[in-house]
Amino acid sequence: MQFQFIILILICLHIGVLGSSNTDNNSATKASLTNPYYARDHIVNPHNFSYVLNPGYSVCNNSNSPVYILVYVHSGPTNYQRRVVLRETWATRTLFPDLRLVFMIGKTNDNNVMKAIQYENEIYQDIVQEDFIDAYKNLTFKGVMALKWISVYCSQTKYVLKVDDDIVVNTFTLINHLKFLDRNNPNKHSTILCLLWHAMGVMRDSKSKWYLSKEDFPLEKFPPYCSGSAFILTGDMPAKMYNASLYVPFFWVDDYYITGAVASAANVTYAQLGSLYTIPQQLAHTRFMSSKSFYTIMFGHFPGSMNNMREIWRRILLMQKYKFPTRVEVFSFTWDEKIHQNDNSIN
Ligand SMILES: *[C@@H]1O[C@H](CO)[C@@H](O)[C@H](O)[C@H]1NC(C)=O
Ligand SMILES: *[C@@H]1O[C@H](CO)[C@@H](O)[C@H](O)[C@H]1NC(C)=O
Ligand SMILES: *[C@@H]1O[C@H](CO)[C@@H](O)[C@H](O)[C@H]1NC(C)=O
Ligand SMILES: *[C@@H]1O[C@H](CO)[C@@H](O)[C@H](O)[C@H]1NC(C)=O
Ligand SMILES: *[C@@H]1O[C@H](CO)[C@@H](O)[C@H](O)[C@H]1NC(C)=O
Ligand SMILES: *[C@@H]1O[C@H](CO)[C@@H](O)[C@H](O)[C@H]1NC(C)=O
Repeated sequence: MQFQFIILILICLHIGVLGSSNTDNNSATKASLTNPYYARDHIVNPHNFSYVLNPGYSVCNNSNSPVYILVYVHSGPTNYQRRVVLRETWATRTLFPDLRLVFMIGKTNDNNVMKAIQYENEIYQDIVQEDFIDAYKNLTFKGVMALKWISVYCSQTKYVLKVDDDIVVNTFTLINHLKFLDRNNPNKHSTILCLLWHAMGVMRDSKSKWYLSKEDFPLEKFPPYCSGSAFILTGDMPAKMYNASLYVPFFWVDDYYITGAVASAANVTYAQLGSLYTIPQQLAHTRFMSSKSFYTIMFGHFPGSMNNMREIWRRILLMQKYKFPTRVEVFSFTWDEKIHQNDNSIN
């Protein structure tokens, strides 16, 4: 009792101290709590790179079937095998004629790798490469490169799916859900469908890969943004977001930069994918393998073995054959709930 009482007093004192400093020096407190990543009134982040490889209009304007969903994949220069798996499994044109696939890669100083990528692109014509160094802290360049490329070469697409190259997508579920959304709202626009985090804590542990100092990011929580492993944009967003990115200062945390800072500067509406979104490998594997939960999962993250990705895809094909056609009517859709209409305010 006594102990709790003392803590209570300490808390009151603490609040009191903060409260008075707030009134005493309001501007200083405010300045230290301002998110620096908002849109300025002039260009502060020119995306001034050149294409090394660019398949151009051939990706989206290459056949009689119009593009419905463009998939762009953040891939690493040496991840050739992962790209092969994606081309052969869930992103295959053979099964999904209105889907298009394109890989986003930076450059490397290894000339053999550069040549291999060029050769790969001659065969598949699905690699966009710009001349920034492909590195973890350059992922934001990759995201902006994708927005720029899509807004020029594939602006007619109805939807855009971003994934990393170790994600498995149940393409059947994905397309059926999007068609379901279309039936309810054929003119859906300005929207990002994703696993939305409302107040993700900022990592202050200097040993972490995601460490951010107070100078890098003064707030203790991020404003709303999406898990970057997989998210879906309506087709109007890439152009709006590319434009917005020019006005928002560069920040290497690409998931927050692209789906938080830039998306909100472009006045996006967030729609929660919620339970359809399963990312951790073990959980995703279990849910894909269970006949009960199979239809409730759209994405899985399989960073380990590529055989796992192929195994999950075989499972998807098998389930699809037997059960898929009756599914759409059965399930309730909790995921297009509008939970955050962004008002372009900064905090
Ligand atoms: C308020 O904060 C500013 C900037 O940190 C500082 O220069 C100033 O002395 C402070 N004023 C008071 C009254 O504490
Ligand atoms: C962009 O790059 C070109 C050369 O690649 C250079 O001439 C130009 O000044 C750069 N522009 C900006 C704004 O950095
Ligand atoms: C690509 O296709 C779109 C939609 O069909 C069309 O509006 C556009 O003009 C085409 N662009 C080129 C360069 O063929
Ligand atoms: C990011 O790319 C730029 C442009 O190529 C390069 O100068 C920089 O070193 C890269 N960053 C890292 C961490 O490699
Ligand atoms: C580009 O972005 C800026 C900053 O967000 C905004 O003021 C401007 O209206 C945008 N332009 C277009 C064409 O969307
Ligand atoms: C976003 O909305 C705000 C407020 O309505 C408006 O001032 C701004 O121009 C919009 N920005 C864009 C890029 O549409």
